Amino acid sequence: MRSLEDYRATFLAHLEDRLSFDEPKNLYEPIQYILGLGGKRLRPILTLMTADIFGGSHKEALDAALAVEVFHNFSLVHDDIMDDAPLRRGKQTVHERWDVNTGILSGDAMLILAYQLFEGYDRDTFPQLAKLFSKTAIEVCEGQQHDVDFETRNDVTIPEYTRMIQYKTAVLVAAAMKMGAIIAKAPEVEAEKVYDFGLNLGLAFQLKDDYLDAFGDPEVFGKQVGGDIIENKKTYLYLKAIELAEAHKVQRLRELFASRPKSSDEKVATAKAIFKESGAAQATLDAIESYTEKAFSTLETIDISDLGRKNLQDFGNWLMNRVV
Ligand code: IPE
Ligand code: IPE
Ligand code: MG
Ligand code: MG
Ligand code: MG
Repeated sequence: MRSLEDYRATFLAHLEDRLSFDEPKNLYEPIQYILGLGGKRLRPILTLMTADIFGGSHKEALDAALAVEVFHNFSLVHDDIMDDAPLRRGKQTVHERWDVNTGILSGDAMLILAYQLFEGYDRDTFPQLAKLFSKTAIEVCEGQQHDVDFETRNDVTIPEYTRMIQYKTAVLVAAAMKMGAIIAKAPEVEAEKVYDFGLNLGLAFQLKDDYLDAFGDPEVFGKQVGGDIIENKKTYLYLKAIELAEAHKVQRLRELFASRPKSSDEKVATAKAIFKESGAAQATLDAIESYTEKAFSTLETIDISDLGRKNLQDFGNWLMNRVV
């Protein structure tokens, strides 16, 4: 079995190889910029690993892995416009470096490029991948719309939040893995189980993303710390604090999350203090662990080698403990 670093290196070589562009510069440069900024590459690595684990070849999965990563980066370019985010992977976001219109069109082109990457698969595999991809992409849009709608609502519940993050984030992690299983021609029941594993891992992943957005180290995190608080995002941290904090703190939090002050330092500091002292920060870490454990119990039921299982478990633990 190959190491994560091996998979990442193989994937990056394929990305270099498959994506070279010419004109117009203002369409393609932002695409090369965002894809070249790095990132963890966790979704494509999962596609490659899953193909190998189910007895296929990661080489055959390279185009699907790239499609997933290009789609992910498309969603980030548009997400950063929607979230008014200045920083991505430690650098300026596309709409800051160019402008909003450039971000919209380069993002659109990336979505199409992602689809094109499935064209080389055979007549049995192609429709399965395309169907899964379309279903996933529309779910991501639904999740993103809920995320934005929740900014201006003050009655969001935890089940609503969970559904929102399932759609905006977890389904793509799940689909990335199921694509590996499809390419390896794994039995449908096993492919479904690996989807379920990816879904729970994806929920844990977005909870950790929320946690790091408030409590990450600005030196290494690569995004604006406190961005979710500034944008009034109804994250798990916020929803748990509403549930757990003392009445006057709840009142204060509600006021803060209904406002958009010009200078946000105080808002961010106050919200973070309430998240910590109410126990909401700890509850978020507990939920991350619990979704990861749920993923691991599904993993036990999948018909793969012990080594394959161990690799996926190591991957889940790495995701849970990440700082970026
Ligand atoms: C960020 O995804 C967007 C979310 C769904 C939370 P990643 O944390 O995987 O971003 P990169 O690709 O590693 O930068
Ligand atoms: C992003 O969620 C999900 C998608 C891009 C589909 P976030 O808005 O939390 O992601 P980050 O924190 O900006 O990476
Ligand atoms: Mg965002
Ligand atoms: Mg967002
Ligand atoms: Mg986030």
